Amino acid sequence: MLNQYNLKMPKNVFAGPEAMQNLKTIIKDGVAKITIFTGKDILKLGLLNELISIIENNHIEYEILSDIPSEPSYTQAQEVVDKFKALNSDFIIGVGGGSVMDIAKLASVLSTGDYTVKDLLDNPLLAKKQVTSLMIPTTAGTGSEATPNSIVGVPEKNLKVGIVNGELIADHVILDSSMIKNLPKSIAAATGIDALAHAIECFTSKKANPISDTFALEALDLILNNIIEACSNPDALEAKRNMLLGSFYGGVAITCSGTTAVHALSYPLGGKYHIAHGVSNAILLTPVMKFNEPVIKDLLAKAYDRVAKEPNKELTVDEKSKYIIDLLENIVTTLEIPTSLKAFNVPEEDLEGLVEAGMQVQRLLVNNMREVTPEDARKIYLEIM
Ligand SMILES: NC(=O)c1ccc[n+]([C@@H]2O[C@H](COP(=O)([O-])OP(=O)(O)OC[C@H]3O[C@@H](n4cnc5c(N)ncnc54)[C@H](O)[C@@H]3O)[C@@H](O)[C@H]2O)c1
Ligand SMILES: [Zn+2]
Repeated sequence: MLNQYNLKMPKNVFAGPEAMQNLKTIIKDGVAKITIFTGKDILKLGLLNELISIIENNHIEYEILSDIPSEPSYTQAQEVVDKFKALNSDFIIGVGGGSVMDIAKLASVLSTGDYTVKDLLDNPLLAKKQVTSLMIPTTAGTGSEATPNSIVGVPEKNLKVGIVNGELIADHVILDSSMIKNLPKSIAAATGIDALAHAIECFTSKKANPISDTFALEALDLILNNIIEACSNPDALEAKRNMLLGSFYGGVAITCSGTTAVHALSYPLGGKYHIAHGVSNAILLTPVMKFNEPVIKDLLAKAYDRVAKEPNKELTVDEKSKYIIDLLENIVTTLEIPTSLKAFNVPEEDLEGLVEAGMQVQRLLVNNMREVTPEDARKIYLEIM
C-alpha cells in the first residue's frame, strides 16, 4: 500500500434518474459552440435526442463528429482530432463508450495543435487542458469518464497504450442510465466485466490506498451484485444505474490506484487481434486472479466480507478468497463471454510474441502484487489458448 496518495476527479458529477437534464446547468454560462463526439450506433439509436434538444433550446451552435471507430489506433484518433480542430469549438461532449470518450478527452488537450497524439504517446506530460469537456458514458463500462487515461492502439507495437495525464480528466460527467438501457447483452457483459476488473485489480494493486479502496470496494459491491441482472434484463433500471455508478467508481479507483496484470496482459490481445477490451479482460480475469491468489487472499477475503449479502462467518480466509474467484469465473460463464482465445483463432506459434508484448506493459505489471516473470506470462497465455 502506498504511503501517499492523491485523488483527482471530475469537478462536477451528475447521477440518478433524469440526470441528463442537468446539461442545462452545465452549458448555460458562456458556451459558444459545442462539438459532440459519438459513434454511428449511438446516433442511430437516438441516444443524442434529449441532449440535442437541450442544446437547441439553449440556442447554442453545435457539430457532431459521429465517425469515431471502436478501439481506435493513434492515427485514427489524430484524424478525428484534426476534424475537431477545424470546428473551433469551446466545449466538448463525449457520448459513448470508452472509445468515444478517450478520443473526446484527447481532443480536449489537442485543440491548439502544439503537439499530436503521437507526441503524447512519447511524452504524456505535454498535455494541457484547452477545451472544457463533459463525458456521458453509454457503456458501464470503462470508467473513462473518471480517469486521466486515453487508450489508443499502436499497431507497430501490436499493443494498446495508455496516455495518462490528469489534464485529460473530464470537467463534467453525467451518469444517466437511459444511455445504457438498450445496450446489447454481449456489449453490456463485456464492458461490465471491464468495470469489474478495474475494481478488483485496483483493490489488489500495489498502488492501493485508503481512498482508492473506498471506491474500489463500493464498485465491487455494486458490480458483483448487479451485473447479471443489468445485462440480462433491459428493464432493470436500478441495476443499470448501479452498474453506471460502479463503473464510475472503478474509474476513480484507477485514477488513485492502478490496474494490474489482467489489464497488462490484455493489451496485446486488443492491440494485435482486436479483441474487444472487455472480452480480453474477461478471458484473463480468472487465470490472473488465480495466479495472484497466494499473495492477495487476505484482500479477497475482505472483499467477500464487503460484498456477500449473507456472509458466512464460519468461512476461513482461504474459503472466502476461493468464493470470490469462483464468483468471478461464474459471472464470466453466465454472461457467455468467451473464456479462451480459441474463439479468436490465435495460433500457438504467436505465444512468444504475446509474452514479449505483454511484458512491455510494465506501467501496469509493476502494480501487480505477485511479480510476473516472462515464464509466468507464458503460462498464463498458454492457459487461455
Ligand atoms: N480511458 C480509460 O480509462 C479506459 C479504461 C478502460 C478501457 N478503455 C478503452 O475504451 C475502449 C473500449 O470502450 P468500451 O468497452 O466502452 O466499448 P466501445 O466504446 O468500443 O463500444 C463498443 C461497441 O458498443 C457500441 N455501443 C456503445 N454504447 C452503446 C449503447 N448504449 N447501445 C448500443 N451500442 C452501444 C459502440 O458503438 C461499439 O460498437 C477501448 O479502447 C479501451 O482500451 C479506456
Ligand atoms: Zn479496462
